[in-house]
Amino acid sequence: MNRPAGHAIDQLAVCLDTHGPVILPALLLCDFGHLAREVSRLEEAGARALHLDVMDGRFVPQLTYGLVVVEAVRRAAKVPLEVHLMVDEPERTLADYAKAGADILTVHIEALADPRRTLDTIRSLGPRAHLAISPGTPLERVEPHLEHSDGVLVMSVEPGFGGQRFNPVALDKLRALDAIRSRTGGSFRLGVDGGIAIETVGAVASAGAELIVAGSAVIRAPDYSRAITELEQLARNAA
Ligand code: DX5
Ligand code: ZN
Repeated sequence: MNRPAGHAIDQLAVCLDTHGPVILPALLLCDFGHLAREVSRLEEAGARALHLDVMDGRFVPQLTYGLVVVEAVRRAAKVPLEVHLMVDEPERTLADYAKAGADILTVHIEALADPRRTLDTIRSLGPRAHLAISPGTPLERVEPHLEHSDGVLVMSVEPGFGGQRFNPVALDKLRALDAIRSRTGGSFRLGVDGGIAIETVGAVASAGAELIVAGSAVIRAPDYSRAITELEQLARNAA
C-alpha cells in the first residue's frame, strides 16, 4: 500500500476545520492517456484531494475503471483519494480498493444489503467509510447508519455520468444532515457530487457541504488552478 506519509487524510480534516470546504476534482473527464500528468496538474492547481468514479456497468450503465487505475493514481498522487464506488455488491472489492490506496471509500446505500456491516468492514480495513445517496433515495435510508459513517456523499445528479445539471433536491438533504449532525454532535463529513459549478457551489456550501466534488467545472476549464481557486473561494465565502 502506498498511502502518503504524514496521514494526508488527517491533514485534510485539519484543513476542513480550519479553512472550510474543499474542492475535490473528479478525474472522470480527464485525459487518461496522460493520467500521472493530470494528477500532477490538479495537485499543483491546489486540489487537496481527488475523487475517483468507479462504475461497473451494472449499478450504473457506464463502465469506467477499477483497481489498476486507482493504483496508478495512488502512485502519482500525494493528496488523499476518495474512491466513489458506483457498483453492485461493493463488499466484494473493498479490501482491494483499500489496498490500492483509497483514503475514503464511498459506497452507495442503494447497493448495500447490510450497510452497518459494510461500513464497519471499510473502517477495519483502514479507509474512512462514507455513504453515498442518490437523488431519488429518501434520507431515511442513511439516517440509521450515520453513527457508523465517517461521511455522507449527497448526489446532486443521477450517478453515472459527468456534466449533468445540478438537482436542488441535494440542498434539502444537506441541510437536513447538517441539522442532524448539530443536534446529535455527530462528526460525519458532508460531501456533494454532481453539477457543481460557479452557480451552485455557494448554495451547497451554505447547506453544509464540505467535501465538494467538481468534475466538468474543473477538468473542462482552461486553467485548473483558476477553476479550483474560484470554486473554493465561493464555497468558503458561503459556508
Ligand atoms: C457522477 C459522478 C461524479 C461526476 C461529477 O456519477 O459521481 O463524480 O464525475 O461530474 P460533474 O461535476 O461534471 O457533474
Ligand atoms: Zn462521483
